[in-house]
Amino acid sequence: MARTPLMAGNWKMNMDHLEAIHLVQGLHQELTDANFDYSKTEVAVIPPFTDIRSVQTVVEGDDMKIKYGAQDVSTKESGAYTGEISATMLSKLGCSFVVVGHSERREYHGESDALVGEKARVALAAGMTPIICCGEGLEVRKAGEQVSHVLAQIDGALDGMSADDVKKSVIAYEPIWAIGTGEVATPEDAQEVCGAIRVRVSELYDAETAEAVRVLYGGSVKSGNVRDIMAQADVDGALVGGASLKADEFAKIARFDA
Ligand code: 13P
Repeated sequence: MARTPLMAGNWKMNMDHLEAIHLVQGLHQELTDANFDYSKTEVAVIPPFTDIRSVQTVVEGDDMKIKYGAQDVSTKESGAYTGEISATMLSKLGCSFVVVGHSERREYHGESDALVGEKARVALAAGMTPIICCGEGLEVRKAGEQVSHVLAQIDGALDGMSADDVKKSVIAYEPIWAIGTGEVATPEDAQEVCGAIRVRVSELYDAETAEAVRVLYGGSVKSGNVRDIMAQADVDGALVGGASLKADEFAKIARFDA
């Protein structure tokens, strides 16, 4: 596969900055002990904003190859936007990734596809890789409309993005019914939607762009199920929540092919 797999740990609102240092050091140690080859698989942690400076300090101080990013970004560059964090602030802290449009932000903060797309473009303009999230809820899944639902989200988020931007982006398919529930989608479920996303990218852009964009699966990924999910043709990695909070477990996930 030409696309480098990406294993990203979305910590959500967990881990203070001291716990973050401990977790990153533990992850680094586990991967070092296993002779992990970072050129074959990218590994990233996505901590809360308050941890990022501490994560940067340990990663740079110990010359780690673990990458890191943020869970959200403002569309504004600077100014009177109390509580917001700009893309420039994040890139100055060495962030490689920004998660945009996670289902929890869509649900609790009313984020639309258009806003998600704007956040992705802001992240790209600051030299970071957006991880653009999409996924259907249980009702949509029960109605069998997951593919059309997700493709509408993708159409909305990619609107106005160039092929070059899309090639540099990551798309994460996270069925909401599988997030934090222990209810993992079957590898075939993951492939169905991830494959449909890639086909849509080829329709919206071209075959080269579709081949380049990485599509992740997220939702109750664990060391015990990651291998079968990663065996799917259009799944290029995982966005991991709960299982990324334990160094040994997330290291096992990163070593899915060991
Ligand atoms: P869980 O792995 O805890 O199900 O969370 C998935 C997720 O939302 C990652 O962004």
